[in-house]
Amino acid sequence: MNSDIKDKTLASKGKLRIEWANQNMPVLNLIKERFAKDKPLKGVRLAACLHVTTETASLMRTLKEGGGEVALCASNPLSTQDDVAASLVCDYDIPVYAICGEDSETYYKHINQVLDLKPNITMDDGADLVSTLHTKRTEDAGQVWAGTEETTTGVIRLKSMARDKVLKFPVIAVNDAETKHFFDNRYGTGQSTLDGIIRATNRLLAGTTFVVAGYGWCGRGLATRAQGMGASVVVTEIDPLKALEAAMDGFRVLPMADAASLGDFFCTVTGNKHVIRKEHFELMKDGAIVANSGHFNVEIDLEGLEKIALAKRKMRECVTEYKLPGNRRINILAEGRLVNLASAEGHPSSVMDMSFANQALAAEWVAQNHKTLEKKVYVVPVEIDKQISNLKLKSMGIKIDVLTPEQERYLAGWQEGT
Ligand code: ADE
Repeated sequence: MNSDIKDKTLASKGKLRIEWANQNMPVLNLIKERFAKDKPLKGVRLAACLHVTTETASLMRTLKEGGGEVALCASNPLSTQDDVAASLVCDYDIPVYAICGEDSETYYKHINQVLDLKPNITMDDGADLVSTLHTKRTEDAGQVWAGTEETTTGVIRLKSMARDKVLKFPVIAVNDAETKHFFDNRYGTGQSTLDGIIRATNRLLAGTTFVVAGYGWCGRGLATRAQGMGASVVVTEIDPLKALEAAMDGFRVLPMADAASLGDFFCTVTGNKHVIRKEHFELMKDGAIVANSGHFNVEIDLEGLEKIALAKRKMRECVTEYKLPGNRRINILAEGRLVNLASAEGHPSSVMDMSFANQALAAEWVAQNHKTLEKKVYVVPVEIDKQISNLKLKSMGIKIDVLTPEQERYLAGWQEGT
């Protein structure tokens, strides 16, 4: 079996970590058991470009149990857990092309190796497979039934491709499923981003000012969790509705130009580029800590920072200190890449359980329905979303009420008034 990973001797450590994560993925495990019996993906070739983590390992095993032929590469050069890659190759016979810290050339070589599988289904976290199939490997787009997309950033890009009528195959926006973004983006990003910042710096959050750029689902989660750790949270936004929501959720809302001089910590979660740039670095306090938890490493203008910096040095594993005129130091975490995956382990398994249940069931749905799909962006069918929330509740031992026949009639009718 072909693969390109760092070190096969890491497999035993990876196997235990995969087992540990898997203990907290009850919904995906139920799907895996059914897939093992029904084989809904028999003969289907699936290429996945996802963060190579313990949770992704559980998804890959589920797809394989379903009869799929799978291959995996990384969706970010710094997020690969090399022990997990080794275990997938050595213990589960799943081809992986991913090495933590790989350079850009290797990253794209790995994407191409996964696409050599000639997939029927692509599974993306950031649209890199779809993008390569629309630019450099257009000849391979024809055999793709559909793709699935995990992130807000990727879905925005895919919707603009569909609007411009350049999308060559259908895509399922897994991110837009309610059992995905309400939980993964909010609670997953909230916890894992703080985890990444704390592991990188070992600094106390209580009593500090924490600036969150962006108040989408990820920003909401991060702001709430940072507040919970005792920080005074400032939110920056460009969307008036989201800014209003942040204000009414109790956060101080400011333009970045005003927040820059106040923050001890800054974290971007906007999906946009150069949200923190030269004019902001020039205002920051000595020792400010700046991180990004958005998908691409474009949110912090590092080139702008390099231009005004007098010197830089690596202070800790994921901390680079930039010395600025006036004896000020700015600390950038994880080179401005996704801090939750580069400096911690990504979202915890319990929340990825729902995200990856959506991925697995979306793949099954594509296998069943691809002949009738158009070249556009689809939402995950609501029945799948409902099924996942019911299974997750059940796994948590939570029971809910059911409508009485009288209540059903009341909700369905319009005659009954005050
Ligand atoms: N994205 C965020 N956290 C993740 C995780 N633990 N595994 C895979 N993708 C992720």
